[in-house]
Amino acid sequence: MWLLLPILLYSVIFLAVRHIYSHWRRKGFPSERAGISWSFLHQAYRREFRHVDAICEAYQTGRERLLGIYCFFRPVLIVRNVALAQTMLQQSNGHFSDLKWDYVKGYRRFNLLEKLSPIFATKRLAEMFGHVQRVGDHLISHLLDLEQAQGGALEVDLQQMLRVYAINIIGSLIYGLDVNNFEQKDHILSSYVSRSAGNASSQSFTLSRLPQKSSFTYRLRDLIKQAVEHREEHGLIRKDILQLLIRFRNGNDVGGEKWQVDMKNEEDKLLSIKRVAKVAEDLLKVSLDSVSSNITLTLFEILQEPLIVEKLQAEIKELATENNVLKFEALEGLKYMDMCLKETVRKYPPLPIIERICRKSYTLPNTKFTIDEGITLMVPLLAIHRDEKYFSEPLKYKPLRFLHAEKSDECQSNAFIGFGIGGAQCVGQNFARMVIKVALIKLLQNFHLELDAARAENIEISHQPAPFIRTKDGLKVRLKRREIKSKFYN
Ligand code: HEM
Repeated sequence: MWLLLPILLYSVIFLAVRHIYSHWRRKGFPSERAGISWSFLHQAYRREFRHVDAICEAYQTGRERLLGIYCFFRPVLIVRNVALAQTMLQQSNGHFSDLKWDYVKGYRRFNLLEKLSPIFATKRLAEMFGHVQRVGDHLISHLLDLEQAQGGALEVDLQQMLRVYAINIIGSLIYGLDVNNFEQKDHILSSYVSRSAGNASSQSFTLSRLPQKSSFTYRLRDLIKQAVEHREEHGLIRKDILQLLIRFRNGNDVGGEKWQVDMKNEEDKLLSIKRVAKVAEDLLKVSLDSVSSNITLTLFEILQEPLIVEKLQAEIKELATENNVLKFEALEGLKYMDMCLKETVRKYPPLPIIERICRKSYTLPNTKFTIDEGITLMVPLLAIHRDEKYFSEPLKYKPLRFLHAEKSDECQSNAFIGFGIGGAQCVGQNFARMVIKVALIKLLQNFHLELDAARAENIEISHQPAPFIRTKDGLKVRLKRREIKSKFYN
């Protein structure tokens, strides 16, 4: 009797696990052989399991456009073909819509992200440009001070510096603060950067799996509460993202030209302060690492290719200025820099995987395959961007592959999906480009940057801790002041 019980229990567990792991075979989808090995359990227990690498490895097996895999006990479908991913995410009438930004107010239901996207329109960004330049100047003065203090020979971890630059941008534009975290090290935003630089609290591999709250949520909410109440009470205007969030909260449109807030009664406001704080924290989470990693990894690549640096410096030298001051509109002229940024996103997408849940069952056009409601779909950007089928010599850094991409053999133009696909594309991409360009312009104008070749070879770049990409031990770069006269300040 006592012997029968464990045998029975073992048999039930065995059959249940076997049933789960036969999901894709039963549904007729091509799938990987699945099982739980001791080494997998050991890695999972020690939090060493590399989800992103495992998913990319699965992408490389087989030839089918779809592949069924299992994330622990969850059946997941990997889309291995860009055209198919586009069909499914773009044209499938809500079968794969992301509900994360759905918002209900009274009888109204809307997608908050869609409503807020005009915040990042070119006209709005142009007016925020002054703040971005100021934050860029803080980065340069900090480096110059360090250089002076060390008597001219300066070596810094640029990854860490650029994370502070990114948090200063976020502090200035999203939280509406004139804070310089290079100097004010005890500020909550400084603590946010230092804490998240170590082991991130999450081991997720997509944005939708980031934890909703962190230990900083309440302190960040206090920042927003103070700023919103202060501006609403005194009718203050500061041309930043927070101002537009306050306009939206008061039912004013965010796309036009006005910055002033036409106040609504408390009960008629569209967003509570708590909700504004949640939007701000979400923006912080998606922008901090994506922006800082893009600048860091662009520098990592170009500093190994002196010709690229020369081309960028020549392009920067030709930038149009007004009264010696860089204008927002001039950034458009940096075509080569644009290709570099795109190439960095291709080779090192900050977000390696796009994930969607199937909301209502979907039959793939002209096939017998039906994806059931509740099934998770993953588009592995990282693996697609490093697939020879789409990009020739994918591990080489070649910005010019995007020049006339449609005609070039170097890449299939639609295979670049670093900012997402279809309606749910990254709303902040223009903002990201502006912020990244300002940092690169200022660094390349003011310094000769040098990366030790031997060290560069050993730099480990990974999505660990996931989801964002970074170098394991920072990016140590030697800086020396450039003595050239620039056409504009800093
Ligand atoms: C190089 C920089 C960046 C890259 C490569 C990037 C890429 C992406 C990608 C791939 C997605 C997912 C799209 C999808 O699910 O279909 C995304 C979503 C998003 N991005 Fe970006 N992004 C960058 C910077 C930024 C910045 C600076 C902001 C805002 C200030 C921003 C705001 C957002 C938001 C709000 C979402 C939606 C998030 C969600 O649904 O959870 N991004 N981005």
